[in-house]
Amino acid sequence: MTLNNLTAIVTGGCSGLGHATAIALRDAGANVSLFDLNEELGAQRVEELGSNNTIFTKVDVRDEASVQAAIDATTETFGAISLVVNCAGIAPAKRLLDKEGNPAPLGDFQKTIDINLVGSFNVSRLVAATMAKQSPINEEGERGLIINTASVAGYEGQIGQTAYAASKGGIIGLTLPMARDLAPLGIRVNTIAPGVMGTPMLLAMPEKVQHALSAKYNFLSAWGYLKSLLN
Ligand SMILES: NC(=O)c1ccc[n+]([C@@H]2O[C@H](COP(=O)([O-])OP(=O)(O)OC[C@H]3O[C@@H](n4cnc5c(N)ncnc54)[C@H](O)[C@@H]3O)[C@@H](O)[C@H]2O)c1
Repeated sequence: MTLNNLTAIVTGGCSGLGHATAIALRDAGANVSLFDLNEELGAQRVEELGSNNTIFTKVDVRDEASVQAAIDATTETFGAISLVVNCAGIAPAKRLLDKEGNPAPLGDFQKTIDINLVGSFNVSRLVAATMAKQSPINEEGERGLIINTASVAGYEGQIGQTAYAASKGGIIGLTLPMARDLAPLGIRVNTIAPGVMGTPMLLAMPEKVQHALSAKYNFLSAWGYLKSLLN
């Protein structure tokens, strides 16, 4: 797939991995539609990426109406959608029992599954429905590509990561059946599982946790860095 002049949706596109993805797509000549909750950052990112090829829509990835309205805004502005990168996510840490032996709140677990797993599924299914109606973009009959973001935690969750690891394990699990469902329509589905990356999500964790995670996961215990955060 050649990215030049194609249109891509990036959920969670205002921060961290999503923001870096949006920059890379813009640099490759794609139109970028940012779906994120953060309106203030959204306005900033549109200015930074260029308002001629970037739009922002306030979206909660869990909410069907909100996602559908943003998909409609994207097609109205740019035409056909060829790529979606699901980056929206949260990573709260909570042990199953706290120091006093109280069980972790059920609502915290449900919220993480809802945003990371249900949100990725929700955006993918609604974008796929739009892509399926579009004409193929090349002679191979390709209509589009969906990229989900899991995590190394989906394979090897650490202490305090029951909810996060379950949400990412769910994304890994849905990837192959989703790819099989959509292959006949010319829509590919891929999932990436990054290691520890130096983004606002990671930097919001206590320093002890940040270093414990990178010591466990990364070669040389170093974080992955994003050019967008180093500027
Ligand atoms: N940072 C890491 O080390 C790391 C490692 C592996 C996987 N990941 C995954 O990569 C993705 C991006 O993480 P990041 O580190 O860039 O995080 P980040 O916190 O920098 O960015 C996440 C973005 O998602 C948005 N968001 C949160 N809830 C939302 C919702 N309900 N609807 C719409 N947008 C919402 C936030 O506003 C934010 O802009 C996440 O799925 C995360 O789990 C991160």
